[in-house]
Amino acid sequence: MRVALSGLVAFAVAAATPALAQNANPLPAGDGRDIVAVACSQCHYLGTIAKIRDGAAGWRMYVDNMVLRGAQLTPAEIDKVVDYLSLNLGPGANLPPAKPVTLPDGAGKNLVETRCELCHDLERVATIERGRAQWPAIVANMVARGATATPEEAKTISDYLAANFGN
Ligand code: HEC
Ligand code: HEC
Repeated sequence: MRVALSGLVAFAVAAATPALAQNANPLPAGDGRDIVAVACSQCHYLGTIAKIRDGAAGWRMYVDNMVLRGAQLTPAEIDKVVDYLSLNLGPGANLPPAKPVTLPDGAGKNLVETRCELCHDLERVATIERGRAQWPAIVANMVARGATATPEEAKTISDYLAANFGN
């Protein structure tokens, strides 16, 4: 009886461990991962972070916001965490699979396809309802976060999005 019971417990532990280990930390390997795993798991799942891609400026805004909310990090650790996040969860890094989106033809289509899918899918761009006049500010926000576009390219993108997804 005793033997059978401990055998059952050992089986249950062995079966549960791999799933637990996977759920425990979805963050990609990299320098600074351990600090993030400890400091950033106090209030929400690490998956909240792992699904986001953003540039260094954008990540710093998130992290500063979290420190205001109570994340425990020294100034040096903040820098380290921002470096880790922008390197490993930056534009184009460890991208999750995205649903393909077909955009309408027009000048700017190619720019949107090549520059705007590095941090989120194009569905985010193509399904959003925004006024025509709002697109330049949205695109400027994206460039500030790390999207690459010269001022002329940003204008081409804004004009294209305003024409096709502006109301
Ligand atoms: C003291 C609690 C707390 C800690 C610690 C914390 N967060 Fe948060 N975080 C929140 C709350 C509350 C929200 C939801 C509110 C919001 O979106 O502003 C949130 C939301 C987020 C979001 C936005 C998710 C989304 O889908 O928009 C990101 C990214 C994030 N946290 C990253 C981090 C990182 C990185 C760390 C570690 C440096 C961290 N958090 C530590 C409380 C915390
Ligand atoms: C460096 C990463 C990055 C790149 C590249 C990027 N985005 Fe974003 N984008 C984000 C993040 C992070 C959010 C969510 C935070 C926010 O809404 O400000 C977002 C949100 C959005 C939203 C929703 C905004 C809203 O008002 O709800 C739109 C639309 C968008 N992006 C369009 C674009 C377009 C167009 C491009 C190409 C010019 C682009 N993104 C490239 C990071 C990026």
